[in-house]
Amino acid sequence: MKIFKIKSELKDFLLQQKSLKKSIGFVPTMGALHEGHLSLVKKAKKKNDITVVSIFVNPTQFDNKEDLVKYPKTFDNDVKLLESVDCDVLFFPSVEEIYAENITSDKFDFDGLEHQMEGKFRDGHFDGVGTIVKTLFEIVNPDKAYFGKKDFQQLQIIKKMVEKHKLPVKIKGCDIFREDDGLAMSSRNARLTKEHREGAPFIYKILKKIKKKIGTKNANELKQWVEEQFKKHKLLELEYFTIADEKTLQTTSIIESDQKYRAFIAVFAGDIRLIDNISLK
Ligand code: PAF
Repeated sequence: MKIFKIKSELKDFLLQQKSLKKSIGFVPTMGALHEGHLSLVKKAKKKNDITVVSIFVNPTQFDNKEDLVKYPKTFDNDVKLLESVDCDVLFFPSVEEIYAENITSDKFDFDGLEHQMEGKFRDGHFDGVGTIVKTLFEIVNPDKAYFGKKDFQQLQIIKKMVEKHKLPVKIKGCDIFREDDGLAMSSRNARLTKEHREGAPFIYKILKKIKKKIGTKNANELKQWVEEQFKKHKLLELEYFTIADEKTLQTTSIIESDQKYRAFIAVFAGDIRLIDNISLK
């Protein structure tokens, strides 16, 4: 696997590959890789000639300084994992290489998608995501880019950015990877205490129950039911639960049979924030 830290060197290499008519698949990450990330790399490898992974903990998408400082960094292990799935290229730039002296976000208009859910609780988060993903797309110039559905709102926002800015890349959403006990894989899981780790699968259990209950109660009653379940839970604190339209991400109170909905949830396990979602189809 080739490792690049300098964007102009990566650009030159990829331009050369493009001139040889090689297609480029791209998996942007913040490192602390797990099976979920590797599944994206495997998908990219199947459909493209060259697969590029980036590892960059993007400061502008963190509204919480402590979360940024404590974000797990496991570079040596990440390299081993990427080599185990035959990743072709790793881009591992420094903050200065990406932002120079100006560590700020551009402002984006994602047609309101950014004001829902995560956008309400993480100030400026999606401007930070838009800024870094657009920057990385400009450097890598991929044919296809792969994102997990655990961050479903992020996925929809990136699709919107690509559409609005007419970026020449196809965005591929990939299914959520889960631990055997149902907990959605996340780099943040590594920071859970043993107790919180044992309690965290409750989140997916609740989502599965909601999926079963659809049709028996309306959306507001379901939300109330979820809130009651978390009030009784000793370790997990609910930040939000909402049932929303997959496309607009607007919270719904009425479930129409011809629309696609998802249930979205954010929960604190101690000071670790976990998110998950489930299709209600
Ligand atoms: O999902 C992530 O890991 C990050 O938000 C991303 C897309 C790599 C941008 O920093």
